[in-house]
Amino acid sequence: MTFENSIDFAKKLDAQDPLKEFRSRFLFPQHEGKPIVYFTGNSLGLQPKTTQAFIQQELNDWAKFGVEGHFLAKNPWMHYHEFLTENMAKIVGAKNSEVVMMNQLTVNLHLLMVSFYRPTKQRYKILCEAKAFPSDQYALQSQVKFHGFDPKDALIELAPRQGEYNVRHEDILTAIEKNKESLALIMIGGVNYFSGQVFDMKAITEAGHKVGALVGFDLAHGAGNINLELHDWKVDFACWCSYKYLNSGPGSVAGAYVHEDHHKKTDMPMFAGWWGTKKETRFLMSNVFEPIETAERWQLSNAPVFAMAACKASLEIFDEAGMKNLIAKSKILTSYLEFIIADINKSNNNCLEVITPKELQGCQVSIVAHGYGKALYNKLIENGVIPDWREPNVIRCAPVPLYNSFEDIYRFGDVLKRLL
Ligand SMILES: Cc1ncc(COP(=O)(O)O)c(C=O)c1O
Repeated sequence: MTFENSIDFAKKLDAQDPLKEFRSRFLFPQHEGKPIVYFTGNSLGLQPKTTQAFIQQELNDWAKFGVEGHFLAKNPWMHYHEFLTENMAKIVGAKNSEVVMMNQLTVNLHLLMVSFYRPTKQRYKILCEAKAFPSDQYALQSQVKFHGFDPKDALIELAPRQGEYNVRHEDILTAIEKNKESLALIMIGGVNYFSGQVFDMKAITEAGHKVGALVGFDLAHGAGNINLELHDWKVDFACWCSYKYLNSGPGSVAGAYVHEDHHKKTDMPMFAGWWGTKKETRFLMSNVFEPIETAERWQLSNAPVFAMAACKASLEIFDEAGMKNLIAKSKILTSYLEFIIADINKSNNNCLEVITPKELQGCQVSIVAHGYGKALYNKLIENGVIPDWREPNVIRCAPVPLYNSFEDIYRFGDVLKRLL
């Protein structure tokens, strides 16, 4: 498509957008009486207008039924997590039995590593990103130490080559091959939070399995953003949060996936709680744990219904829009954003460098504004545009297809051009 940097052209693209109606389903913070240009759906997604009613429903049922709401509520709380499973499983390309919404992201990462990081004297290393999100790094370091190993020796960090921003796929394969005798686990973010680089999860899983390692992904930046086929790719486990692209509100309930091949294993270590034991016998209050033979086995506690209500509201919108349609729109949105950046560069000495690899990206476009630094980001905010800033030098912009428009991108470019 041939793009133009003009408001009329952006409006024309919006008029042709088959998903344009979804924008009106979200609440936008305002700047000087206008919706802000919100490019931070990769950090905290916007609130769907239906969220309040979904939470209110549970408040009403709590008032009406008290404890009996577990069975009598319109959406009985006993089963609330189950109401999220099907829509969530579609988004990550998994079977319903492989997905459960529970806890928080870092908690789920730890719980899954209890099962999937089982180091031996010989096989104890974890392949991870040098620039993983810090919480993941802390989780990996503490798991390694918990098992009596030294993170400096046990963590193999994948870093971009000198002078580059992204990790080369060939370097990942080389690292797997080089450590094939000692590799216990590969655990990386499916989409790097800083650069926006999408990893080839299928190929990495295959390569990991070939040398006898297990493979898991943190999909905080992947779920609701890119195409995922966790089941078919045979990924062993994954976890993600729901407050970014999945618009479920700050700190909302997180997701976990475990491939069905692992559901019935009896020799798998795990931390257990009453929500992971078989439903038929749970209330007999026996002290014998009988694991559910699905991903629900990893649950510890009963469902946090209010957070899940917010998640339910959002997942229903995703289901209506459809991941395939969202991804198709996302590709055009990010291409338009890159076109606008290139156009601005023409009159600004190419000071804007997009570090997200063109062929390996989702919504996010990470930009280094050479010679400007954080002051530019602060000015964008003052002017009604919200991207986000990641130290030391990146402005991340994530135009999300559910609610961002082509006009948003034009307006972003217009403000940016004036500020440079
Ligand atoms: C890649 C990644 N991992 C982990 C986290 C931490 O998530 P939580 O606080 O929900 O455990 C985040 C949060 O933004 C993240 O982006």
